[in-house]
Amino acid sequence: MWTLRRADELSGGMPLGQWLERIPVLASTDLAHQRCARCKASIETGSFDVDASLFVSDNDQPAGLVLVTTSAEVAHLELVAVRTDLQRQGLATTLVQGALSALRRKGMKIVHTGTVSSRELQAVGLLTSLAFVGEGLGSLRMRRSLRGDLPIAEAPAGYHLRSLRVGEEAAWVELRNLCFPEDGHWQLDHFRQELSEADCFALDRILVATRQDRLVGTTIAWEAAYAGNPDGRPQGLIHWVGVDPEDRGVGLGKALNTMALGQLAERGYAEAWLNTSRNRVAAVGLYESLGFEVYRELDRYKLTL
Ligand SMILES: CC(C)(COP(=O)(O)OP(=O)(O)OC[C@H]1O[C@@H](n2cnc3c(N)ncnc32)[C@H](O)[C@@H]1OP(=O)(O)O)[C@@H](O)C(=O)NCCC(=O)NCCS
Repeated sequence: MWTLRRADELSGGMPLGQWLERIPVLASTDLAHQRCARCKASIETGSFDVDASLFVSDNDQPAGLVLVTTSAEVAHLELVAVRTDLQRQGLATTLVQGALSALRRKGMKIVHTGTVSSRELQAVGLLTSLAFVGEGLGSLRMRRSLRGDLPIAEAPAGYHLRSLRVGEEAAWVELRNLCFPEDGHWQLDHFRQELSEADCFALDRILVATRQDRLVGTTIAWEAAYAGNPDGRPQGLIHWVGVDPEDRGVGLGKALNTMALGQLAERGYAEAWLNTSRNRVAAVGLYESLGFEVYRELDRYKLTL
């Protein structure tokens, strides 16, 4: 038999931090880790909303919680968690509805969630069933298989594709800065920290397109370990794709990335992954034309009370 209580009504003296630990939250993703860490911090500092945060116990054992923080007229649904053996019984809905009733009584107008991945099907189902609306954050992770036939595209006339050479690192950084003016200015040190000091670094992973010996396009046949990778092993990653604005639209992006996919397949990866943003319309078009599909999209959810 379970009971729903506020933090100040809990009996038994179990510290709330331990309460959280007794509910095995699926913490296999970075997002879930971040959520739990934020939740722990607001429990430790007592900065959660005492009226809207609710705790469920089952025969006096921690069974679930909804943790809410509030500021001005906006509430943040930080975490909803239910013990695995008690899921699919409407407990999460009861918890969130209880929190929402308390927030309405306090005169709150808006409830936001943190970042939710489209792969978190239970969270998406729960939130949409309670009339929360997703606000796309734009962040996309895409993937495609490296088994079977891969797309082929030749370099357009007048361009040459090859790997970066020793001594060209500064020119690569210059090209990267030209292609990503909105993404901070790199110095040569960034190249070392982000690329050459990485375990998987090899200069031939960095592919470039040249026009009359000038670097005008790049992509990197990199690797990454993400939740969702087959066997949890690192997979291929298409990284830092950019073409000089003067050389866009002639097929360089496509040619460079078909070469990168070929290299990743030769290196033995089963899949290629990449991270991009919905706002990067040309990039998303390019990746779709290369057979990539969306693996997950990030949203924040909002409910107007
Ligand atoms: C994304 C980028 C690399 C594309 O390079 P590009 O050499 O111009 O691309 P291509 O000419 O090879 O185009 C290949 C395909 O991409 C898609 N594409 C390219 N530009 C596009 C645009 N402006 N709008 C929609 N789709 C576009 C098309 O499907 C195109 O195939 P098609 O010409 O047969 O229709 C380039 O626009 C760029 O450097 N952008 C800034 C940096 C960036 O956003 N990088 C990606 C980070 S994730």
